[in-house]
Parts: sequence; structure tokens; C-alpha cells
Amino acid sequence: MTKSSAPGKIILFGEHAVVYGRPALAVPVTQVHADVEVLDSDRAGIWIDAPDVNLHAELSMLPSDHPLASVIHNLFFLVRVSPFPNLSIKITSSIPVASGLGSGAAVTVALVRALSSHLDKQMTDKEVNAFAYEIEKLHHGTPSGIDNTVITYAKPVYFVKNLPSPAGRGAGGEVETFSVGRPFTIVIGDTGIPAPTKVSVGDVRKLWEAGRDKWESMFDQIAEVSFVARRIIENGWVDMLGELMDENHAILQEMTVSSPELDKLVEAARSAGALGAKMSGGGRGGNMIALVNAEMAEMVARSLKEAGAKNTIITQVS
Ligand code: PMV
Repeated sequence: MTKSSAPGKIILFGEHAVVYGRPALAVPVTQVHADVEVLDSDRAGIWIDAPDVNLHAELSMLPSDHPLASVIHNLFFLVRVSPFPNLSIKITSSIPVASGLGSGAAVTVALVRALSSHLDKQMTDKEVNAFAYEIEKLHHGTPSGIDNTVITYAKPVYFVKNLPSPAGRGAGGEVETFSVGRPFTIVIGDTGIPAPTKVSVGDVRKLWEAGRDKWESMFDQIAEVSFVARRIIENGWVDMLGELMDENHAILQEMTVSSPELDKLVEAARSAGALGAKMSGGGRGGNMIALVNAEMAEMVARSLKEAGAKNTIITQVS
């Protein structure tokens, strides 16, 4: 049997602007993960068991554009597996779907790693990342590549889309991991509202096309925030991050990608003593994040629940 696990992720700074070439910062969230087990099987075919999404099917029963089917078909084509072996694949995930925690990319990364090593076709991180980016593009339109990157490397990343770099073509962008000078605590609050990233990214594109100057300037303001935030994190001056989160959230509100529910949670976190808070990811629903002193984390999480959060996660960035 071969097993693989991939963490969830959150974007700390720079979502949306990253699609337009500005830097963004993302970190893994190890409290939630996607897990894949691959076993040789006596039964003919490739049987997929994904109880979280109520799926129990043989590969050929799935439409070819099904996310799991597209991973398996594309991978077998890439590493030249033919004929298909008889396998049993079990997929579980504790990462909430469509909420900005990278559930799709985590399943892809764990599945690719488990399958490729089970078939003795080991792939490097760079290859896994490039493959996962191709899959992200199939399902999410024009993704920046930040999700697959932070999840593949499972380290804090400073991500710039499409810069020529040793990460190579297809990886989606330059991969720069960075160090955290002093660990800090983030509380994640889930609105419980599924919000497909494709929709908010598409809406931003339409607005950008209608008024490029204004939007480029908002993206530049976000780029500045991400740039400064990285330095602050590296130097361990984390108390200063809260203000940058508030600033980033205000710009995202102006960009229309926040929502009343996200704003309510952001306000609740601030009132409960968070040092700063913002939505995270595509927006309109999904998650928000708050920077807290570790001893305040439980209280902020409780306040988020009282303000309507369906779920909260306390995570340490280190
Ligand atoms: O909603 P998420 O966490 O998958 O993040 C989307 C981030 C965007 O910048 C809005 C889109 C992207 O592809 O980077």
C-alpha cells in the first residue's frame, strides 16, 4: 500500500492581485489534510472510494472531466502507464471544499504522489507542482498557481506568477519559500458559504477590463502590502502584520470580493482582540483569517463562532 498526505493552505496576503503578476504569501495549514491510499487490487479496474463526497466508482464510470478522473488519466498518460493496473484508491479529506483552503489542489497533490510512487514512477516536487498546476487550470480557469505551489512544498511561499525561474515552465510561477522569524498564530473562520474561486476571479477580470488604471493601482497597493509583509515575517516583527491585514482587507472590499458574512467575521475578530483580520482566498464566502496573540486564540475563535462562523481552526505559522 502507498500513502500520501497533503496539507490545506491559506493565503495570508495578495489574493486576486497575484493573478495579475503581483506577489502573494501563502502558508500550509497542517491541521487539515487530504489523504490518499493506493492498493493493488484483485478486482478489475481502478476503484475509487471517496466517502467524504459519497463517491464509490470505477474510473471508467466517471465523466472524463471529473476532477479525480482527470488527475488519473493525465498522470497515467504523463508517466506512460498502459495498460491500466488494477488498483483500489481511497481518498479522504478534512479540508472544507470550495472555501479557500486548497482542498482541490491538496487532493491532486496527494493523489499524484501516492499513485506515482505506487507505480514506481517517482516525481520530484517540481514535477508534482507543474502537474497539479495543469489540473488546477482544467478546473479553475486562470489560476495563479499559488495553491498547488504552497501545498506541494508544504512551506510558506512568496509567490509571483509566471516569472522565468528555475521552477520551470508549467509550475505556475516562481517558487520562493521564506522563513518565519518568529512563529505566529492565525485563527481561521469559515463562513460556511461555498464560493467557487472561478466566479470571483472571473468577476474581477470583467471589472479590471472595464477600468484597468484603477484596478492596476489597487493591485499595486496589494503588492506593496505583500512585499512588506514578507520582510516583517522574516524579521519576526509579527505584531506589525495585523495592520497590513486590515489594509489588505479594505482593498479586497473595494474590489467587491468580500461579502457581508466575511466582513462580519473580520469585525468580530477585531473586536475580540485580534491584531488584524482579512478575508482569505477567492472571497464572497469561504474563509477569513485573524492574527492573534497565542493566548487570545481561543477567545477569538469563540467570538467568530458567535458571529456565525461554521468552523474555526487555530494554526501556528512557523
Ligand atoms: O480561494 P482560493 O484559496 O483557492 O484562492 C484563490 C486565490 C486567487 O488569487 C483569488 C486566485 C488564484 O488563482 O490565485
